[in-house]
Amino acid sequence: MQAVMYDRFGDESVLSLREAAVAQPARGEVQVRVRMASLNPIDFKLRSGILRMLGRPKRPAITGKDFAGEISALGAGVQGYKVGQRVFGSVDPLGGRGSCAQFVALSADLIALTPEAVSDEIAASLPVASGTALQSLTDIARLQAGQAILISGASGAVGATAVQLARSIGARITGVCGTANLDYVRSLGAERVIDYKTEDWLRPGQHFDVIFDAAAAASFAQARPLLTTSGFYINTMPRLALYWAALVARATSRQRCVPFLLKTDAALLARLAKLAAERVIVPHIQEIVDLSQVASAQRRMRQGKVHGKVCVRVGA
Ligand SMILES: NC(=O)c1ccc[n+]([C@@H]2O[C@H](COP(=O)([O-])OP(=O)(O)OC[C@H]3O[C@@H](n4cnc5c(N)ncnc54)[C@H](OP(=O)(O)O)[C@@H]3O)[C@@H](O)[C@H]2O)c1
Repeated sequence: MQAVMYDRFGDESVLSLREAAVAQPARGEVQVRVRMASLNPIDFKLRSGILRMLGRPKRPAITGKDFAGEISALGAGVQGYKVGQRVFGSVDPLGGRGSCAQFVALSADLIALTPEAVSDEIAASLPVASGTALQSLTDIARLQAGQAILISGASGAVGATAVQLARSIGARITGVCGTANLDYVRSLGAERVIDYKTEDWLRPGQHFDVIFDAAAAASFAQARPLLTTSGFYINTMPRLALYWAALVARATSRQRCVPFLLKTDAALLARLAKLAAERVIVPHIQEIVDLSQVASAQRRMRQGKVHGKVCVRVGA
């Protein structure tokens, strides 16, 4: 099969499109013929080798986590799925597996059925970005109607879904993004937008029940004065300092500091599928590239030149 792979950590130049053995499903796994993959910042962070806290992928590795396609084979012991069904999901990349390939094999707990009303590009865009927003706002912060939430990175793939979810919950939303995306974030449902390029978003003169720092642009100490007495600060880039701040906050107050790490499973994916079918979540897809363009797309993402999702067309 064709796959976008790397043998060593580094910048985009380590990626090449080449032949690899077709991924075979082990016990409890399914094999999926990939039609569409989507890219996330985690893909180039893993490829560069900087995410030591998470672990480094075994090499040779295939880049990409998220995909949509159809089941092409079932491993022993898999129940509830049939060959030919449309599914989407997210690969665990540490073993060297990835979604920018014609086939993936992965645990049946890392996929869900794609609803008829949801296209492959929308389904492939959901797992990492929308999963992060959904788990943060509903499972961790338990955001309620009428609560105030501040979302940094509100024009990004994670933040835009967070704005859409917060709007559907009935929260009062302040979005933080760059100048070019202010109208976009307002159109998603933010009551107020702050341009981080011209304003200090850590001084909005208001308190928030939830600060969802999807741009990982602040520290807990900076965000804390803006939180209500039992507010949540969720940061999507876990660092040691954040874990320490989380312990101190828990011991000394009712406020919570949460270094976020996504935990994907079939139940989360099924919730995302339903929200996408109901059009509560509508990912913004900026472009669809092919496998030979993955390296250049990752470079543009790393340079902050992409607004929304990049999908990768893999099969017909
Ligand atoms: N821990 C986890 O499990 C997990 C899961 C998913 C994602 N993440 C991380 O979450 C982050 C966001 O992911 P994404 O896919 O949404 O990325 P993205 O699409 O590239 O979005 C980045 C966003 O950050 C905004 N931004 C940049 N600098 C900022 C600043 N100083 N203050 C406020 N906003 C700023 C950008 O605004 P403009 O473009 O408008 O300038 C854009 O909205 C990435 O670091 C990713 O690795 C972590």
